[in-house]
Amino acid sequence: MQTSAPPPNSARLTPIRGALDNRSSCAKFSFCSQIGVRSLAAPAIDLIGFVGDQRFATILADPPWQFTNKTGKVAPEHKRLSRYNTLTLEEIRALPIDHVTAAKAHLYLWCPNALLPEGLAVLEAWGFTYKSNLVWHKVRKDGGSDGRGVGFYFRNVTELILFGVKGKNARTLAPGRRQVNLLATRKREHSRKPDEQYEIIESCSPGPYLELFARGTRSGWASWGNQADGGYRPTWKTYAHHSQVYTVAAE
Ligand SMILES: C[S@@+](CC[C@H](N)C(=O)[O-])C[C@H]1O[C@@H](n2cnc3c(N)ncnc32)[C@H](O)[C@@H]1O
Repeated sequence: MQTSAPPPNSARLTPIRGALDNRSSCAKFSFCSQIGVRSLAAPAIDLIGFVGDQRFATILADPPWQFTNKTGKVAPEHKRLSRYNTLTLEEIRALPIDHVTAAKAHLYLWCPNALLPEGLAVLEAWGFTYKSNLVWHKVRKDGGSDGRGVGFYFRNVTELILFGVKGKNARTLAPGRRQVNLLATRKREHSRKPDEQYEIIESCSPGPYLELFARGTRSGWASWGNQADGGYRPTWKTYAHHSQVYTVAAE
């Protein structure tokens, strides 16, 4: 089914362009003074409200990156397909991730191939040091590369998760040293990432776990995002192998 309706809760979390310069809203969050800023953008305020006093040891983030081409069929904000809103690089960088994580923490950051420099900049702005990456190889049912989709220079059949650490002695847990840095799974709906990532992360990195820009929820994780509700379903025409099919088959 195609729809032009915005994603659930988008009104509550719709990003504002530019930072709020309103000290009284900031005062609600003594957090602002703790981190030494006078104003925070709406997504940052929403995240702080969600996290409260919790501090997470592992973060998984799949930000709504903005691409230069916002009208093409794969663009998240394509008007008719209306999949989700995006954030500017500055809004993503400004999320106070350093402050919602423990002193020692791991970050798994999904980064489009075209935005590798931006991904590394975000990882650093969030207080992490880049260490390695996991590659998602999108495969067909028969195991070959799934070349559907687009690519301006090459047809992309891979996506990267940048892995960064914060603090001393922040190596992966023992299973991490045996974990190969490749996931080969089938594509699902637009921008949907493979569920296999959770098992890898849970075995290689310590909890508590926080997913940023989540779609749906997952047991054992705090899930934040404007589509992070248990009833999430893709509402646009997509590949046959999408989340809803997967959920129904697994029940
Ligand atoms: C790339 S998608 C995440 C896809 C998800 N990882 C998955 O596998 O299905 C980015 C998500 O960020 C959400 N989003 C966009 N703007 C947001 C905002 N201001 N605050 C919170 N979430 C936002 C979008 O609605 C979308 O669900």
